Amino acid sequence: TIKAFIFDLDGVIVDTAVYHFKAWKKLANTLGFDFTEAQNEQLKGISRIDSLNLILGWGGVEKTAKEVQELATLKNQWYVEMINKMTAQEILPGVQSLLSSLKSAGIKCALGSASKNASLILERTGLTSFFDVIVDGNEVSVSKPNPEVFLKGAQLLQVAPQQCVVFEDALAGIEAAKNADMRVIGIGEESILKNADWVLPNLEGQSAAQILNKLEKSRS
Ligand code: BG6
Ligand code: MG
Repeated sequence: TIKAFIFDLDGVIVDTAVYHFKAWKKLANTLGFDFTEAQNEQLKGISRIDSLNLILGWGGVEKTAKEVQELATLKNQWYVEMINKMTAQEILPGVQSLLSSLKSAGIKCALGSASKNASLILERTGLTSFFDVIVDGNEVSVSKPNPEVFLKGAQLLQVAPQQCVVFEDALAGIEAAKNADMRVIGIGEESILKNADWVLPNLEGQSAAQILNKLEKSRS
């Protein structure tokens, strides 16, 4: 039985995926090239430096390690300018009521994000107190699809990986959950998030009880 819900942050709880995309696009354009939304799907869920290295590869641009760090810092400055203005209005539909319903269902709750800006975003949107455990980019050493971030979450919550369900909008994140031997619900488009147990457009109208029920029925 499921005892814990683990949420990705960007693109699941808040719509920061668009801010990441904007900032990366601006950086690529500054370097004289562009990339597509399809390419952007590959950036979701992976760390800042891994993202930048992919982007530089797409543009055929070579930089020294020091320049790569500087470009990552620049992108993050633009990104932080955007997220600093965030409010609770930018929480995605259904998130607050699902998080509230966890307590009454006796379900633990963790954040499992690759972002080093996770605490700032949770503070700005007033969501910090919903989470029993927060694992973010400051605590993990390898990017999703490595399962480290989710396994750490489970460990801190003191539940087995098989007792966790992950909510993810990224291909890399769905793979990470699978690699952790957890159930995974995709948030986004079914045509993109093929390997999830199932896919929802967002969390609107979803309660903990409903999700637990559906997971129980679809257990393989
Ligand atoms: C993930 C995002 O949550 O965090 C990625 O999906 C992002 O797009 C990664 O690159 C790292 O975020 P940050 O805030 O540390 O640059
Ligand atoms: Mg995400």
